[in-house]
Amino acid sequence: MGILKSFYQNARRPEGIGGRLILSKMNVLHNANALWGLSHIEIPPTARILDIGCGGGKNMSNLLRHTPQGSVYGVDYSLVSVEKTKRKNKGAILQGRAKILQGSVSSLPFEDGEFDIATAFETIYFWPDLLHDFMEVRRVIKENGIFFICNEAARPEDSEKWNKLLDLSVYTKEDLSKTLLEAGFCNISCHEYPNKKWLCVTAKKPGGPV
Ligand SMILES: C[S@@+](CC[C@H](N)C(=O)[O-])C[C@H]1O[C@@H](n2cnc3c(N)ncnc32)[C@H](O)[C@@H]1O
Repeated sequence: MGILKSFYQNARRPEGIGGRLILSKMNVLHNANALWGLSHIEIPPTARILDIGCGGGKNMSNLLRHTPQGSVYGVDYSLVSVEKTKRKNKGAILQGRAKILQGSVSSLPFEDGEFDIATAFETIYFWPDLLHDFMEVRRVIKENGIFFICNEAARPEDSEKWNKLLDLSVYTKEDLSKTLLEAGFCNISCHEYPNKKWLCVTAKKPGGPV
């Protein structure tokens, strides 16, 4: 593996000094895409949110600004990501508005129906079993709650470019809509920008009348 790829490959599960470095880089480089994505969901100020694959914690900081009366949890299977997210959101943790746990999306350390919204920024490319993992996300969301996905790698024609940097699975809106429906979500809505380069998707967990 080349030096560049062995550095970027760390984004899959950050470890050691390389992992810390790449998390700082991702906090900056992913932000434009994340803010564009967030403009497509309505976030009540009291919402209880789970950010899956929280990485360097910048998305948690953004979500905390939207939820002054709510709370934001983060989960990531990398200890280096958990530590970085904790440092980045120290103030909110002290106020009792944020909590970060180490864990895998395949077996989330939360009870059924705990969250109004679950978010996944730049992480589903690495999830081991998309259908199973989407069902696990659905489990921890409340009825009528929202699952939000935001990806900057979204065009199949860019797969080769991305895979020169790191091994990831690029999903189209058709792939994601199909798997989300199979996983039991409804009201799926996809947004692409610009030239279909970025993709964000919202999906609802069905429930009774709102
Ligand atoms: C490319 S980084 C994105 C970090 C952050 N969400 C962002 O947008 O900057 C992917 C993150 O997802 C985490 N991740 C990947 N697969 C995961 C899984 N199966 N369970 C939990 N976390 C996972 C990685 O450890 C890493 O911190």
